[in-house]
Amino acid sequence: MKAKKIAHKVAGGIALMTLIVFLSTTLYSELTGNYALIAQVKSKILMPGLFILIPCLIVTAGSGFNMARGSKNKKIKAKAKRMPFIGLNGLLVLIPCAFYLNYLAQSGIYGFEFYLVQSIEVIAGLVNISLISLNIRDGLRLSRKPTPKQQPVL
Ligand code: HEM
Repeated sequence: MKAKKIAHKVAGGIALMTLIVFLSTTLYSELTGNYALIAQVKSKILMPGLFILIPCLIVTAGSGFNMARGSKNKKIKAKAKRMPFIGLNGLLVLIPCAFYLNYLAQSGIYGFEFYLVQSIEVIAGLVNISLISLNIRDGLRLSRKPTPKQQPVL
């Protein structure tokens, strides 16, 4: 298997896992109501969290577009269309929310504003988890070799 394809699938898989860990640790810490734990989770999401997620998304997108060059395949086109939404959602919603929530948590401000921004972050996180999952589904379908049954009878 080519290095580019391996990098694509490993980085994409890590990106999805990172988002799932962000979401589950966020929900868990907030359900416990333990403010010290919430503050710790918010800070870990920034570092090392984003430090892992952002390069993984860059590698996934870069290798994906590189492998897709010149292709007219419908599944590849669908993957390419989803990628800008994943990037923009991360850049314009998830990252600013993560920084602001960390600031509020470190200052001990857990009012309406915290939970409003937290809800926005959870929704945007779910959107990105769904879009990345769809890209993995289409990617696996693309690289799966057809079984003898699926091969056209000539
Ligand atoms: C976060 C976004 C993405 C994720 C998580 C992802 C994930 C995957 C996975 C898991 C595979 C299967 C690899 C294998 O079985 O070896 C794959 C294949 C593929 N992906 Fe992506 N992908 C993403 C974005 C993209 C983008 C933006 C493009 C470009 C349009 C792209 C193009 C491809 C191509 C062309 C293949 C098939 C490679 C082959 O079988 O030769 N992907 N992707």
